[in-house]
Amino acid sequence: MKRPLRSSPRSAKPLRTVSIIGTGSYLPKKILTNADLSRMVHTSDDWIITRTGIKERRIAAKDENTSDMAAEAALKAIEQAKISPKDINLILVATATPDMLFPATACFVQKKIGAINAACLDISAACAGFLFGLEIAQQFITSHTHDTVLVIGAEKLTSITNWTDRNTCVLFGDGAGAAILRHRGSAHGVISTHIGSDGRYSDILFMPGGGSRCPITRDNVDLNLATIHMTGKEVYKQAVTAMLNAAKKALEQAGLSIEDIACVIPHQANVRIIEAIADRLRIPLDRFYVNLDRYGNTSAAAVAIALDEANRSGRIKPGDYILMVVFGGGLTWASTIIEW
Ligand code: UT7
Repeated sequence: MKRPLRSSPRSAKPLRTVSIIGTGSYLPKKILTNADLSRMVHTSDDWIITRTGIKERRIAAKDENTSDMAAEAALKAIEQAKISPKDINLILVATATPDMLFPATACFVQKKIGAINAACLDISAACAGFLFGLEIAQQFITSHTHDTVLVIGAEKLTSITNWTDRNTCVLFGDGAGAAILRHRGSAHGVISTHIGSDGRYSDILFMPGGGSRCPITRDNVDLNLATIHMTGKEVYKQAVTAMLNAAKKALEQAGLSIEDIACVIPHQANVRIIEAIADRLRIPLDRFYVNLDRYGNTSAAAVAIALDEANRSGRIKPGDYILMVVFGGGLTWASTIIEW
């Protein structure tokens, strides 16, 4: 049994239901295999597969920016949604690797796709950013502020990877995924969202350099401060707890049980994290959509790419309940249930 949507205290108009009417994704062509990495750092195909499930990842070209990948994914979503870029009122780009600190990468995307009627902003919520974007989009649409919102998760993580650190360089890849959200006059659509953060753990997954606290200087670059720093074991532990709690919150809000969920699309960081969640939620692993073996961890892009693949391959069908659940640096976490 679904709970009715909450009514808005600030609006006399009834709350509107929000649907995803198009998805798209883009992966760069270049593939970096585990064998390639084993020639760069002291690692092996066996270690990477056993500890993470990753076999290969995509690497953006030097002149291929986060906004280029984001725009490619967006255009595919726009085509599937059968709308014009001019119909878009708001562009949200979730990324930890913006083209520049400012202006927002969303502004570059706007220019590339010709969405001249949109307001643009970036979301900084690390790997959880795409679902933070869905929540924000939903709020704008249900409150009648905007009708059509483009949400993108896009990353060029290889631009902030320390290629001499085997603890991190084997994990990440590049790519982008996008979704168009719009009001739909039926009961289907985004039925439950939950977002959360815990800044007490901001020092277990972060990039110290490049911001105002530690600006880019020759010394800081030499010290690898403008690259990803991670305490893997601690992140792993927090990830399992945060994703489990977030999944339970979204189910509770939707009035659904885990048996109702046809497909779980989790953050694609480590297959062992996904297996731990499947085990604790007591659902078979084959109900999870997993593509991290092919792309590694693409942070904010990961669930967006997986959603698009699940959509286009027919893995998710109209009427299915889909649970998306993510975590990332911050710490941040989020979950969304969609009736497809
Ligand atoms: O989007 C969020 C992003 N982050 C994550 O999701 C990361 C979550 N954490 C993880 O996925 C895992 O903690 C890792 C995959 C990062 C590491 O797996 P682990 O089982 O926690 O390994 P560990 O860090 O405890 O390292 C075990 C050993 C160490 O050697 P010693 O000290 O036991 O001799 C590491 O130095 O494995 C070594 N090691 C490697 N060996 C070969 C670490 N990285 C590698 C490597 N190849 N690439």
